[in-house]
Amino acid sequence: MNPQTQETRAAASSAEVRRKHKEFLFPAVANYYEEPIVLAEGKGLRLRDLDGREYLDFFGGILTVSVGHANEDVNAAVKAQIDRLGHVSTLYPTIPIVELAEKLASITPGQLKKCYFTASGTEADETAVMMAQTFTGRSEIVALRHGYSGRSMLAQSLTAHAPWRALPTKIPDIKHALSPYCYRCPLGLTYPSCEVKCAQDIEELIQTTTTGRIAGFLAEPIQGVGGFVTPPKEYFAIAVEIIRKYGGVFICDEVQTGFGRTGGKWWGCEQYGVEPEIMTMAKGIANGLPISATVCTPAIADSLTKLTISTFGGNPITATAAKATIEVIEKRDLRTNSEVQGKRLRAGLERLKQKYPRTIGDVRGMGLMQGVELVEDETKKNRTPNPKATGRLFEETKKRGLLIGKGGLYGNILRISPALTVSAAEVDEAITKLDESFGAIGA
Ligand SMILES: Cc1ncc(COP(=O)(O)O)c(C=O)c1O
Repeated sequence: MNPQTQETRAAASSAEVRRKHKEFLFPAVANYYEEPIVLAEGKGLRLRDLDGREYLDFFGGILTVSVGHANEDVNAAVKAQIDRLGHVSTLYPTIPIVELAEKLASITPGQLKKCYFTASGTEADETAVMMAQTFTGRSEIVALRHGYSGRSMLAQSLTAHAPWRALPTKIPDIKHALSPYCYRCPLGLTYPSCEVKCAQDIEELIQTTTTGRIAGFLAEPIQGVGGFVTPPKEYFAIAVEIIRKYGGVFICDEVQTGFGRTGGKWWGCEQYGVEPEIMTMAKGIANGLPISATVCTPAIADSLTKLTISTFGGNPITATAAKATIEVIEKRDLRTNSEVQGKRLRAGLERLKQKYPRTIGDVRGMGLMQGVELVEDETKKNRTPNPKATGRLFEETKKRGLLIGKGGLYGNILRISPALTVSAAEVDEAITKLDESFGAIGA
């Protein structure tokens, strides 16, 4: 990072920013920490706040800064594009939009070939559901409990977390299947003797709560907001086979799991050996610029015959940022780094679980998407969620200059997801800071 810039020095104090945030934003725009951090500058995995304090970023703006803050290659491409052409709308084809679509077609699995661009994950999921419905001529969708799809009316209805639903479900055609949440198995079973009954139960859900012919199944390979709930390896093969038996397509929401996040592969669904007919992506696609995509098979894309427009979708600047981000991931082989550093991170977290067996109930995830579930007392099998300890741990990690995320229905799951550029030394530093923080809360 540079020494603090003129602008940040001239800017208001952090107290002033916090005051204005309270005064002029919706109170629902919640911040982390008792005293929120006002971040002002970043480079790689390092951030600095307005008061000059530095942080190691292991959350990346919610799994979005995929190749590090102020990445030189992405920023250079964006700066050049801003000076060349900023916006024309999708009424005109541009080089950036076709180049990005071609790139996505080349890295997405199977028959996924045609893209529709929007500006957020919410819109990508909206588009995906609409495409499943136009293609099949049916409307019923199976989603998952503990899933998260965004904040529009449809996305809130797909979302299965009361805290994220401002209004009751407005869309009657959505049925929620059981979450493949092994640590808190909804059927009270244990993997693998359970034979993945949560997936098998989708058949009865369709038979008993739908017309028996469905449009599709929307699921995240790892439930992100849900607390990095990681389904067993057989889950998607079983679930998707049932979905197809009843005429539905598989919509894979890769908003959190995409672009190498799960390690080794581009997409979370590849870890499960299943190919979706529709895939959605956002967050890590463009290192923080607002762009999302819904990628479909040609037959599904062709089924939409009405007019549709997203003014900002695939704008030249955001499309350029996305292509540059993907190229950085390719050029620096960051999918491999995600796998290698993901293993190192996981090993470190498993060591913490050994050291703090009471408070750490579960460690789960893939690659650089690792979750830690905090409970009352795992040694006594008391798995009551422990959001209080999570809150205290957050304050301790903040003191030690480490940023992490949290999630889960009860707010008791740490979400740890650094940029794919993370080094071994940074992983070790994060583990040390977490260790000290768990020690400080008497875990
Ligand atoms: C899996 C998943 N889908 C969709 C969304 C909605 O994305 P956005 O907030 O960009 O609308 C999110 C956001 O967290 C998400 O995690």
